[in-house]
Amino acid sequence: MPKEETVEKQYDLVIIGAGPGGYHAAIRAAQYGAKVALIEKNKLGGTCLNRGCIPTKALLASAHFIEKLQEAEEFGVEVKGYNADFSKVVERKNKIVNELGMGIANLQKSWKNDVYIGHGKIIRGNAEDGFEVLIQGETNEETILAKRVILATGSIPALIPNFNVDHERILTSDDILNPNFKTIPKRLLIIGAGVIGCEFADIFTTFGSEVTLLEYLPSPIATEEPIIIKQLQKKFDSKGIKIITSQNVLTVENTGSGVKATTCSASIPIDEIENVETSIFEADLCLVSIGRNKVSKNLGLEELGIETRRGAIEVDPGTLETSVNGIFAIGDVTGGLMLAHVASYEGDIAVANALHSLGIFKNHSKSANYRVVPSTIFTSPNIGSVGLKRKQAKGFGIDVLVGQFSYESLGKAKCMGEEGLLIILADKHTLQIIGASCIGEGASELIAEIALAMQNGLTIEDITGTIHSHPTLSEMVLEAAEAVVGRAIHKKGHPITPRLRDLLMEQFPFGIELKKSKSIL
Ligand code: FAD
Ligand code: NAI
Repeated sequence: MPKEETVEKQYDLVIIGAGPGGYHAAIRAAQYGAKVALIEKNKLGGTCLNRGCIPTKALLASAHFIEKLQEAEEFGVEVKGYNADFSKVVERKNKIVNELGMGIANLQKSWKNDVYIGHGKIIRGNAEDGFEVLIQGETNEETILAKRVILATGSIPALIPNFNVDHERILTSDDILNPNFKTIPKRLLIIGAGVIGCEFADIFTTFGSEVTLLEYLPSPIATEEPIIIKQLQKKFDSKGIKIITSQNVLTVENTGSGVKATTCSASIPIDEIENVETSIFEADLCLVSIGRNKVSKNLGLEELGIETRRGAIEVDPGTLETSVNGIFAIGDVTGGLMLAHVASYEGDIAVANALHSLGIFKNHSKSANYRVVPSTIFTSPNIGSVGLKRKQAKGFGIDVLVGQFSYESLGKAKCMGEEGLLIILADKHTLQIIGASCIGEGASELIAEIALAMQNGLTIEDITGTIHSHPTLSEMVLEAAEAVVGRAIHKKGHPITPRLRDLLMEQFPFGIELKKSKSIL
């Protein structure tokens, strides 16, 4: 079909990419009164809605349901057999994704944002005269004009040629989350025991697959607190999930009837890999989850002189403006934390700065700050963390007090049959909360309270002085905060020295000089 040219439309802001970064930014800009165009080459909602957060959480919700059924007897309930139908689980997942997708389309409509389906690319322009953005649809091309542009083009699964991803037996998360993927393999091999690898391991093991994870590093989810990793490994062990660490995966092949991965020890230097002892791992399907690449090609970046580093669009860390005035970038494509809520947060910042720079909107500029970024790994149990880990705090030279509390010691968690722990870190000299990590039911929600406290510069005293409803999981936060200063109620006592008594009874709530108490606490 011949390509058609159409009349150019003009916008205050054009956003390329409608993931949680782009679609959120489009709505925020409309709330300021801007005329907005949102360009998406695939489906509204991006990776998060269509191939990421939401479909995995829908599958995990079904897996979690099965896990609860398996524990029924413990709760005094006899379940006389059940049948998990994975194709129905997938249909439920697809329905959730579709409904939320329609919701995003309706939201854009309600804010009168123009949505274009096609590939967006900046072809020329500058901050003074505006930018021309080309939209290449399936059947037509059109150019629109933008006073400001936000690039929110996201990321895609990283691939290595030797892993021979063929989308039949050797898959990425995109393949598994495809609406038509309805297979439970007998044996699943997962390469990369990071966030995606661990979440899928949990899903498939619950539906009956034998799961083996191969990880290059000495530990899975290596950026989490060691004590949390240990707990997850224990839980995975009990479910029969094998994690084989320090593995350099050399090749993955589709053998016709299955998959075969060849590995050697990760400690062997690259130039000595030939002729080393190798191990073979076989399975029916293989998931490759070794990180994600930024989508920054064919956007017109080189022509405009927008700087990139290893595929990531470089931005000013405060304003999120690229090296070209008037063009901003947010979310996964910037190579920062690859999280949906970070992309949306960055959308807010970029919109505020883009519109502020036009001088016609009455908004203030904003500066991004990443001190408090909560994140969750949605394995069962969940892992939640925010702020600093112990090792990072040490690296920054912060003297840290640590409070730890176990689910097993909490009434509500005991009733729910849940295990796990929460750690809160505080600055020893100010008692200001600097981080927290949690593994256990509702970890993501517990971390949210701590994130709010951190965002507002609160101290341990602010949490311990807040009444927490009983019996609730939120008491985990209260007890862990009390534990920071040796005062948890439901934790074994230890011989108290007169000095400690002074600290606990008198000085602590009134701003003690904790510096002097090193030997006691
Ligand atoms: P994306 O969501 O990738 O969206 C970018 C959009 O831009 C896409 O729709 C793409 O089609 C479009 N696009 C690209 N180029 C063009 C172009 N030239 N023209 C037009 N459109 C274009 N994060 C969490 O916080 N919580 C989770 O539980 C979670 N789970 C995940 C599970 C999986 C399996 C995966 C893969 C990721 C998960 N993430 C999760 C990460 C999260 O999905 C991403 O961080 C988030 O989607 C990034 O948002 P974004 O807007 O930057 O990019
Ligand atoms: P990841 O960075 O979390 O994990 C990749 C893992 O693969 C790492 O442990 C790495 O050491 C390992 N690895 C890399 N190359 C390897 C190789 N050749 N052989 C063996 N192991 C290898 O990346 P993942 O899991 O692909 O997820 C991508 C991003 O998506 C994450 O950064 C995360 O932010 C986001 N995400 C977030 C989720 C959440 O918030 N719950 C869920 C899923 C993804």
